[in-house]
Amino acid sequence: MTPLDPHKLPVHLAVIMDGNGRWAQQRMLKRIIGHQRGAETVKMVVEQASLLGIKYLTLFAFSSENWSRPALEVRALMTLLKKYIRQETARMMRKNIRYNVIGNRRELPDDVNETLDGAIQKTAENTGMVLTLALSYGGRQELCRAAARLAEEAVTGTLSPVDITTELFNKYLDTGNLPDPDFLIRTSGEMRISNFLLWQLAYTELYFTDTNWPDFTINELHKALADFQSRERRFGMTGDQITERGDLLNA
Ligand code: IPE
Ligand code: IPE
Ligand code: MG
Repeated sequence: MTPLDPHKLPVHLAVIMDGNGRWAQQRMLKRIIGHQRGAETVKMVVEQASLLGIKYLTLFAFSSENWSRPALEVRALMTLLKKYIRQETARMMRKNIRYNVIGNRRELPDDVNETLDGAIQKTAENTGMVLTLALSYGGRQELCRAAARLAEEAVTGTLSPVDITTELFNKYLDTGNLPDPDFLIRTSGEMRISNFLLWQLAYTELYFTDTNWPDFTINELHKALADFQSRERRFGMTGDQITERGDLLNA
């Protein structure tokens, strides 16, 4: 396995887990079987990220646009999500992992929200990795919700528009308590963002692999992280400036 420098890991790793449906269809299986197999990959990545000491892991599990899929697939995904959370919460406790959710939770079924609330409450005091699930999440929708809240405060007079800085705006996003992702992995060969974390990905290093999510392995995760470690992040500055300010390299 590719050796990794433990001091140069992403603080925040984000993943677009794509290709479950095609994985299944290539094997003449129903798409939901692909999602079930994908859930096994989720367990592996959560365990590995936590073992490696990654502080924040954010997984794109269901997009705002995924509601347009056939009702049967949407229902099956919601059921799988509930089952996953119920089965995994004890392990999250053992591994000191805290659950967090971003996205429009009002669109999720009540039983899913109840399961999520239970898991969030139970793991609230855990101090290890923060596992954020993006559910019914869309970047544009999140930006609109933030803008609406800011507008509301401007109208009621508790906020002056001149005080709207990038730092303040950031606090109004669902990810207000999270640092921006350092590294984004997308599986299945698609090279697009699909409305994920539009604001937060401004300076994120991107990594695409052809592997479908159910086939994504520990080795591939390590290979991706090794690739991250080989990159020079410049944040708009020159390479020389970055060498001088080594502290920024993996900020
Ligand atoms: C990702 O796999 C999981 C979700 C979007 C819920 P897909 O279901 O998008 O799989 P493909 O892209 O159709 O193969
Ligand atoms: C993005 O995958 C959403 C998730 C992985 C949950 P999609 O499969 O929905 O994205 P598109 O439609 O190929 O862009
Ligand atoms: Mg897809």
